[in-house]
Amino acid sequence: MSNDLELVTIEEAAQIVGKTPANIRDYIQRGRIGKYNEEGEPIQRAANGHLRVSLKEIRVFLSLIEQGLEKHHHAGLHPELGFYDVPEYQRTKHVHRLHPYLGKFIPQLVEWFLARYFQADDVILDPFMGSGTTLVQGNEMKMHTIGIDISPFNCLIARVKLAKYDVIEARAEILEIERRVTTFSKYLTRSQEVNLSLFPEERMDGLKESLLAECQSEYLRTWFAPRALLEMLYYRRLIQNYRYQDLLRVVLSRAVRSSRLVPHYDLATPKAPLPVGEQYWCRKHNRYCMPIDNCITKIHAYSEDTARRIAQFDKLRSDKATVVIQGDSRNVNLPAELSNTPIAGRPIDGIFTSPPYVGQIDYHDQHIYAYELFGFPRQDELEIGPKKRGKSKQAQEEYIDGISAVFRNILPFLKPDGKIFIVANDRFNLYPEIARRSGMKIVDEFHRAVTKRTEQGDDPYQETIFFMMKAG
Ligand SMILES: C[S@@+](CC[C@H](N)C(=O)[O-])C[C@H]1O[C@@H](n2cnc3c(N)ncnc32)[C@H](O)[C@@H]1O
Repeated sequence: MSNDLELVTIEEAAQIVGKTPANIRDYIQRGRIGKYNEEGEPIQRAANGHLRVSLKEIRVFLSLIEQGLEKHHHAGLHPELGFYDVPEYQRTKHVHRLHPYLGKFIPQLVEWFLARYFQADDVILDPFMGSGTTLVQGNEMKMHTIGIDISPFNCLIARVKLAKYDVIEARAEILEIERRVTTFSKYLTRSQEVNLSLFPEERMDGLKESLLAECQSEYLRTWFAPRALLEMLYYRRLIQNYRYQDLLRVVLSRAVRSSRLVPHYDLATPKAPLPVGEQYWCRKHNRYCMPIDNCITKIHAYSEDTARRIAQFDKLRSDKATVVIQGDSRNVNLPAELSNTPIAGRPIDGIFTSPPYVGQIDYHDQHIYAYELFGFPRQDELEIGPKKRGKSKQAQEEYIDGISAVFRNILPFLKPDGKIFIVANDRFNLYPEIARRSGMKIVDEFHRAVTKRTEQGDDPYQETIFFMMKAG
């Protein structure tokens, strides 16, 4: 079977037929070619790294297009909202890639809607802010933005993206702390490059002991190699000496995430730590890989990168208000939260948001390493539609209740003709009922193919952007 189909990965197919991987995902999304496992059996969902496509099918499909017998855009998908031609570096431009976040949308999607339905100086609210994509894009377009999120770490990421920095000082701090941890790391590994007599054995032992004494977390002790753990604990200790502490926390958290004892192909949802120093077969790189044993490599990788990204955004950011509120959108008191801001008392012109979907992601858990490292309080039980509660009928009912409660809480502060855009993968068709219970009407629906949400696997899927307004 598999021989007949000529099974290859998406990347291989793209290379062979001279298309981009996004094109191939798009063909799958439109149902023009099938999805297979490595054995050539048709499948609905593919685990990361296991999706195969048939070269034969692709060639047939492309030849039909050439003959004018097939059209690309006949699946009801909006042709402009696929953003197939937007390369990865644009989707993750400047601060949008300061920290990984499972489930963020791309800034180009936000830009498309804000540009068509709003104008400079409008006030835009995102009640499920996540890592702050709506706020960053809105700010760039000279709009005031407000974001609410239940997860304290998501709020930290968003604040760090949006903050105004003295970029020269911020860069100096990032590079100085990197240099200090590099020196520490060299002592740890007894590198010939450092003068070990300057840092005698007893002092080093004392330092290691005191760092480990600061680490109560079983998680950190289990998911990191001993050297990686010491390096990140040392970095964490140094942060207090600097001005831009949250920025440094984000650099460290990003490095720590990439330094976990997890396989390269499963950074987003690892199940268990790998044994230190033992090779594993890596589905991402198609070879044996070694789990990472240190953190400094990733600190190097992300330090300069972070300094560059905040400097890029600094040139684009406007002076419009950006307000990040940590709380439950079902009961946040918006007027009170805004009372000390430049947009106090202003009605909201529009909402642009992507709520959690039923049973897909545990938003606190995806950043467990950061919660363990910095000790932020967790509010998992207030997440709407978390993965751990599943997708059962009851979970769907709770989800409808939760999302409706959010809109009922914020709609009183939206202008009567305010526009609401909700990005949702509504496979259970829950949003018509959510609209009804919240006092909203659906004005229009845009369908788009999602060919690559960060690290969400190979599977393309469809999502809807509901355009709603207040009913009546
Ligand atoms: C799909 S994500 C939003 C991603 C965002 N658009 C981005 O680009 O980063 C949904 C967010 O809703 C948040 N959330 C879940 N329940 C919430 C609640 N009760 N109140 C506020 N935020 C909540 C989650 O923490 C998560 O960050």
